[in-house]
Amino acid sequence: MKIIKTIAELEHFVQSGHKKAFVPTMGNLHAGHLHLVDVAKKSVASSDGLTIASIFVNRLQFAPHEDFDQYPRTLEQDCQLLKAHGCDAVFAPDESVLYPTPQTFKVIPPSELANLWEGHFRPGFFTGVCTVVAKLFCMIRPDVAVFGRKDYQQLKVIEQMVQQLNMPIQIIGVPTQRSESGLALSSRNNYLNAQEIHQALELQAQLQTVAHDVLHTTLDFASITSEASRALTQKGWQVDYVSLVKQSDLTLAQRGQDLNLVCLAAAKLGKTRLIDNLEISLTTSK
Ligand code: PAF
Repeated sequence: MKIIKTIAELEHFVQSGHKKAFVPTMGNLHAGHLHLVDVAKKSVASSDGLTIASIFVNRLQFAPHEDFDQYPRTLEQDCQLLKAHGCDAVFAPDESVLYPTPQTFKVIPPSELANLWEGHFRPGFFTGVCTVVAKLFCMIRPDVAVFGRKDYQQLKVIEQMVQQLNMPIQIIGVPTQRSESGLALSSRNNYLNAQEIHQALELQAQLQTVAHDVLHTTLDFASITSEASRALTQKGWQVDYVSLVKQSDLTLAQRGQDLNLVCLAAAKLGKTRLIDNLEISLTTSK
C-alpha cells in the first residue's frame, strides 16, 4: 500500500486510468471505517479498480471550543489496518499540503439542510466538511466515494453537493457498524470511560423505543421524541436533539403524512458528544 503525503505523488497515483473508490476519513480507524474500505473495494472490484483512503483531521470542521487538538491521531496503526484490508493507497497530507494558504474559498451548503440538527449545534461544520471533501474529490477524482450512515446528515449534504455541482461521483452510504452490545462505532468512543461505554448504549436503546412507538402506537412524533429526550436527560445525558425527520430533506416529519423517517439524535455523556440515528419505514409496519 502506498502512503502518499504530497499532491504531486497523489496526482501521479491517480493518473493510472483505473477506476477509483475513495473513503475519506479523519483517521483513528475502527471496524466501521474498515467496513467502508471493504465496500469501496467491492464497488470497483469487477473493473480491477483502486481503493484510496484519506486520513486528515480537518481543522475547518471543528469549532474553536471543540476537540481538534485532542482528536486521536494514530497514522501508523491506521496504515497497518488499511493495508490489511487491501487498500491500495492512503493520502495522509499535512495541513500545509491541503491548506497551503488560508482556505478563504469555501463550499457553503444550503442553510435549509446544513443549519438543521448538527449544523445548528455545530455552526460551520458542514461548510468545513464540504470544503475539504470537495478538495479531496478534485484531487483524487474518484468514481465512487463511500460514507457511513452514522453521520446521516453529512451523507445527505454530500449527496446534494455532488448532485448540484455535477460531480461525476457515485456516493455509497453504508449502514452503521456497531459493537456487539449495539454501540455505534465512532472514534469519539475512545473518550468514554468504562462506565460511560455501558451508559452510551442508552442512546440507541432510546432510538429503538422511538421506533417502537412510531410503529406500534398512535402517539404524535413530538411526544415520542420528547419522551426519549426526557429519558436520556434523566439518565445524565445532555441532549442536543432527538428528532423524527423525513429521510428526504431532514425536516420534521408528521404522523399521517410521512412514511420514510429517520430519528436523529445527538447528546453528550460527560464530556463526549455522541450521535446516532435509526431509519424507520412506516410502510413495513403492516
Ligand atoms: O466523517 C468524517 O470523518 C469527516 O467529516 C470527513 C468526511 C472525513 C471530512 O473531514
